[in-house]
Amino acid sequence: MEYIIFILLAYLLGSIPTGLIVGKLGYKKDIREHGSGNLGATNTFRVLGIKAGIIVTVVDILKGTLAAVLPIIFQVETVYPLIVGIFAVIGHSFPIFAKFKGGKAVATSSGVILGVNPLLFVIMVCSFLVILYLTKYVSLASMLTGLITIIVAIVLQEIALTIVISILTAFVIYRHQANIKRIFNKTEPKIKWM
Ligand code: G3P
Repeated sequence: MEYIIFILLAYLLGSIPTGLIVGKLGYKKDIREHGSGNLGATNTFRVLGIKAGIIVTVVDILKGTLAAVLPIIFQVETVYPLIVGIFAVIGHSFPIFAKFKGGKAVATSSGVILGVNPLLFVIMVCSFLVILYLTKYVSLASMLTGLITIIVAIVLQEIALTIVISILTAFVIYRHQANIKRIFNKTEPKIKWM
């Protein structure tokens, strides 16, 4: 029963469509109708600019973090934070508040990691920024960072983290199918500001 409550809370938290709310309230724009059409931080940067992009990135990360630490806050030791965190990611990608069409799971997944292992989160951010600087592709940096994080978790001998990060990375790659096609076609947009 405890698991069901936390999972439900995490799903609802993840379902908050930050990019949609910021776009509609602050800019009278639905980001799903512009850019890549994705309801995520990258498309928010692309469509609404740096301020909105930063807000959506931070909130989308914190959705995952808060979901993962909920069992810790309520001191329910029988509920495993990483499992709860996965449901925030599912909510973010299939949000009940936005017709089940959400983001590609990157920011919220990293937020889950932040909640359970801040050091690993810092490594992820560094890896993401280095790959982004080298390739200029947010999507490629997101996927490769997931793969690198799996290796780091293995090296750290964090078995549970390795399993969950593998699941999240597989899901992130699955959500980036269109980006992968565009990368091979050389039509994936590169960032211009780095
Ligand atoms: O976090 C999503 C990012 O990796 C790609 O987003 O909008 O370019 O498909 P987008």
